Amino acid sequence: MVKRTEEEKRLLEKAFRFLPGGSLGNVMFSNDDSFIVKRGQGSKIWDVSNNEYIDYLMGSGPMVLGHSHPSVVKAVLNAIENGSTFFTTNESAVMLAEELVKAIPSADKVRFTTSGTDACFQALRIARAFRQRDKVLKFEGGFHGSSDYSLMSNPPHQLYDFPKSEASSAGVPRVIEELVIVAPFNNIDFTTSIIEKHHHELAAVIVEPVQRILPPMPGFLEGLREITSYYDIPLIFDEVVTGFRMAYGGAQEFYGVTPDLTAVGKIMGGGFALGAVCGREDIMSVYDPSQAKPDNLVSQIGTLNGNPIAAVAGLATLKELKKEGTYEYLWQIGRELRDSLDTLCRQAEIPAQTSGVDPVFDIIFTNQTLTDYRSTLTANNQLNNLFRSLLQKQSVFRGPQKFYPSLAHSIEDIQYTKKAFATVIEQVLEFTDSTD
Ligand SMILES: Cc1ncc(COP(=O)(O)O)c(C=O)c1O
Repeated sequence: MVKRTEEEKRLLEKAFRFLPGGSLGNVMFSNDDSFIVKRGQGSKIWDVSNNEYIDYLMGSGPMVLGHSHPSVVKAVLNAIENGSTFFTTNESAVMLAEELVKAIPSADKVRFTTSGTDACFQALRIARAFRQRDKVLKFEGGFHGSSDYSLMSNPPHQLYDFPKSEASSAGVPRVIEELVIVAPFNNIDFTTSIIEKHHHELAAVIVEPVQRILPPMPGFLEGLREITSYYDIPLIFDEVVTGFRMAYGGAQEFYGVTPDLTAVGKIMGGGFALGAVCGREDIMSVYDPSQAKPDNLVSQIGTLNGNPIAAVAGLATLKELKKEGTYEYLWQIGRELRDSLDTLCRQAEIPAQTSGVDPVFDIIFTNQTLTDYRSTLTANNQLNNLFRSLLQKQSVFRGPQKFYPSLAHSIEDIQYTKKAFATVIEQVLEFTDSTD
């Protein structure tokens, strides 16, 4: 049993008193599982009661080098002595923009934001300005941050006939439903037919190349590229998760499909508040008052856009990622964890599987083949929560969904985690037996 000190109990009480749901909006567990993080180092985090966890949440992805990586810490400490923010073009942001253009196949130019949400939002906005149309197509269950356009059919409360979308959060104006249409991920024929019918009114198609933990089926991204090119509709890859994770050039490098615009965030900010939209020169020119016509000039003002501290953290992170063997290691440990879970579930005859790509994956408690949002509805979420909660009691922290392996996870961490998996899957089996 994890021990909670009086100090942490008091902080938990304060969290619930001062923060809605006691959380920052991201991770909300029941009281029993809630803890307050005090610090992180490498692959580990510690709560206020000094309980240690192997962390697979990793800040929801940015901390691919691990917490407080020495190169990032050093770069940030050096930078902070020279000013925290300027609201005008700064050296580190220019250097990071250059690095993004070198790394990301679709990037000719870069516009910084302070989050992945804003990067996706900006990508949609500049596509609209460029195409002079308002409607966009996204995929059911796809997540592109918390803007009104992203929180459509994610998750839908009701399964409508495609392409009707549904506002998924209170507060999102219902009128947005008229501006967003949805298609089923991985179904290129159906998606193509929707695009063919709506191409004249579409400003963009936005997709996560790996939607949540659903990898694209062979031909899906290629088919999207083909149909959007045919109709001159900007294709946006949301690489907030996959960027610099699947490969240095992201999912577009990995799958060999180049979109017109890319939204990035997480890893490229090294754990600081940074995102970016990047892409084709002609589309990006809508930001440039010297090039854009008055009716398609896009205004984007942000106090912390391209913040120099975030930019140096990003640059230091990318430098580490360019070292030999990094991606091989990330894929290798992810595969090892997945193999272990898949084998344990098969042996225990628990209907479950891992899904995703090795550098970011999850366990889903279903035997159904997973291709799109609707197929994930067969998953037993109660078992997923139980699995997470039991794992946390073994000092392995996953977060509500997704394992994010990092370069800081040592072989010893992986061995420990595999042992924890074995214990937890046995407990899950006992639970399912007891409820049969
Ligand atoms: C695919 C994807 N896009 C966009 C976002 C939003 O990024 P941020 O949380 O930085 O606003 C997320 C966040 O997890 C994401 O997973």
